[in-house]
Amino acid sequence: MSKMEMTSLAEGYHALVIGASGGIGRAFCEAIADDRCCGGLDRLSRRDDGFEITDETAVAAAAAELADTRFDLILCATGALHIDGVGPEKTIRAVDAGAMSNQFTVNAIGPALVMKHFLPLIARDRRTIFACLSARVGSIGDNHIGGWMSYRASKAALNQIVRTASIEARRKLPRLSLAALHPGTVATSLSEPFAAGNRRVEAGDAADNMLSALNGIAEGETGLFLAYDGSRIEW
Ligand SMILES: NC(=O)c1ccc[n+]([C@@H]2O[C@H](COP(=O)([O-])OP(=O)(O)OC[C@H]3O[C@@H](n4cnc5c(N)ncnc54)[C@H](OP(=O)(O)O)[C@@H]3O)[C@@H](O)[C@H]2O)c1
Repeated sequence: MSKMEMTSLAEGYHALVIGASGGIGRAFCEAIADDRCCGGLDRLSRRDDGFEITDETAVAAAAAELADTRFDLILCATGALHIDGVGPEKTIRAVDAGAMSNQFTVNAIGPALVMKHFLPLIARDRRTIFACLSARVGSIGDNHIGGWMSYRASKAALNQIVRTASIEARRKLPRLSLAALHPGTVATSLSEPFAAGNRRVEAGDAADNMLSALNGIAEGETGLFLAYDGSRIEW
């Protein structure tokens, strides 16, 4: 059982996990459900609720369903590395326009639509957190080995979207921390094809680590690219 407690949020805080069917999303739900400080948890996923992140009508409808709730914590844990059987490229020679476009649609545009429709559901009168799952490989400054062009670029685009939204959100939501979050290498179906030879942490540990990192952000500190251990990653 997780011992994580989001002590920096209001007692009885209300959370929403989007992508709740994924390896990390499910682990977030378990950790938050176990947190004695949590007063309510909503879950959304494509598999269980038809929440297709690339379909703005579906995203808007899901937000409308929850319009009476004001959230303290929203986590968007959707994302994909393989889409329609196409995985990350080793070389620019493998770039395919359709596959690249799919990466941007799922990993960057989808979370942008989520922020568009769910930022208005963030509570204004208390400390709040909104985080989107990104990946360290989306860092441009930290890119020393190349490869995975479409996935990297889609996460770099997501990071820019998070940063841009955070600047705009500061006016209406000065107590919000909006972050792009790197989970580490986590044992889920997404990383399964690359499991050999790579150390992967269990999803439950990754969720605890990330919640602890989010809990440690100072109130209102925003526009962050945050790693699971609380360190900041260069953009
Ligand atoms: N695992 C790692 O090592 C690792 C490392 C760095 C970054 N990340 C990032 O962490 C996030 C979560 O990854 P994970 O490891 O938990 O992967 P996962 O187990 O494959 O889960 C992915 C989640 O994204 C959802 N999703 C994918 N495409 C969607 C779409 N078009 N519309 C709605 N939902 C969609 C899936 O929904 P359904 O299952 O309902 O279809 C699932 O809930 C991703 O953004 C990933 O890039 C993971």
